[in-house]
Amino acid sequence: MSDAELLGAARAAAERAYAPYSRFRVGAAVLAANGSVYTGANVENAAYPSTLCAEAVAIGHAVASGVREIEAVAAVCLDGPGCSPCGQCRQRMREFGVERVVTENGTGDVVVRPLAELLPDSFGPESLPA
Ligand code: THU
Repeated sequence: MSDAELLGAARAAAERAYAPYSRFRVGAAVLAANGSVYTGANVENAAYPSTLCAEAVAIGHAVASGVREIEAVAAVCLDGPGCSPCGQCRQRMREFGVERVVTENGTGDVVVRPLAELLPDSFGPESLPA
């Protein structure tokens, strides 16, 4: 699947966001190393900190389906001028070896960045003793 198609899957997922508080709908799509795609959307909560980001939901969807290696994650927000994954979600991506993050800017251009650029000098599974 191309990065543009992955963005399309993220956009479709964003339509299913549950965001009654922020009204900021986000969708994400995970491309697993085996080629499978898993999506997620943000799921808010009246107890605001209990909110789940779209990327967290998509990664959880993939991992709970058996995936352990993720190639790329795309994220789309429908209600703002483009968005970039939050810090916690960058760390979640780091756990599963994400190489690139696909987003779009305010004018709809596809933006692809290495996770290593978004989360430099990061802590990961190999940082722990064997
Ligand atoms: N949100 C995401 O889904 N992903 C991000 O990377 C940043 C923020 C959601 C959380 C909340 O529902 C809304 O956007 C506003 O912060």
